[in-house]
Amino acid sequence: MFNRMPTLADWEDEDLAQLAVTELHLAPEDWQVNRKFWEWAMIIRALREYGYLTGTCNALGLGCGKERLMFALANRMRTTVATDLYGQTAFADREVDEQFLRNPESYCDFEFDPRGLLVSPMDATQISYADESFDVLFSCSSLEHFGPTDTINRAQKEAYRILRPGGVYVLAVDYLFRMTDEFKSLPRDERKPISDFFSDADIRETVVGSAPFKLEESLDLADSVSDLFNVVDMETWEPESGSFVPHLYCGYRGNYLTSLLIVFFK
Ligand SMILES: C[S@@+](CC[C@H](N)C(=O)[O-])C[C@H]1O[C@@H](n2cnc3c(N)ncnc32)[C@H](O)[C@@H]1O
Repeated sequence: MFNRMPTLADWEDEDLAQLAVTELHLAPEDWQVNRKFWEWAMIIRALREYGYLTGTCNALGLGCGKERLMFALANRMRTTVATDLYGQTAFADREVDEQFLRNPESYCDFEFDPRGLLVSPMDATQISYADESFDVLFSCSSLEHFGPTDTINRAQKEAYRILRPGGVYVLAVDYLFRMTDEFKSLPRDERKPISDFFSDADIRETVVGSAPFKLEESLDLADSVSDLFNVVDMETWEPESGSFVPHLYCGYRGNYLTSLLIVFFK
């Protein structure tokens, strides 16, 4: 099952651990409980399960930053185009910089085919490719940061436009699986300082509802988290234990988020 949040049981799944090593080139001891690694490994698993890891597909990444996934996919796609507003967003200091555009190879610590990867600056809300250009779209922890809800709407419509019929869009977003009544009653754009992140209603109405994508599986948005551990406080960005391992949850005054994967088809 793909359309869901991570659970600790995913780290007992040998197939996922194997993908982390063979596809993402993590050392086995580095496959630690971390929702970023989960997003990448699950995206690769979804592409494999649904038959897109054949070496013949053209993939486009949206809001990629410097993420490891693009290099892994460059080894598995005919072409991979990784895009982001490099150097122009609030993430410029932390996760992306223009340097990356000059020499993306130097940011990868495993062997990949550089001929298979094009890194390009692009606004994911105004995509500069023709309709139905790509077989595969991928995006991790980015859509929620593209701006207000009407912009998210536009980004999803753009994603639909450039995906070919029969194509797949594998998306990971930050999902507020538990919210206080106060925050639940506010529209997304008024939920500062956690207005970027998606509630249950935002997922259904905006992330899923903006474009006529199909889902092959039902979407599990239920809060079944019984053990909130090592929560990263979104006011200080410090984890409870002082260490970012293990990491699945971020919290703000009774509101909690983790990753949510959604596999869309056209
Ligand atoms: C939290 S980071 C995630 C980066 C990367 N996907 C990862 O998981 O490491 C969010 C990314 O979205 C990018 N971004 C924000 N608005 C964007 C837009 N309109 N178009 C493309 N990328 C955007 C930022 O530059 C940043 O790299």
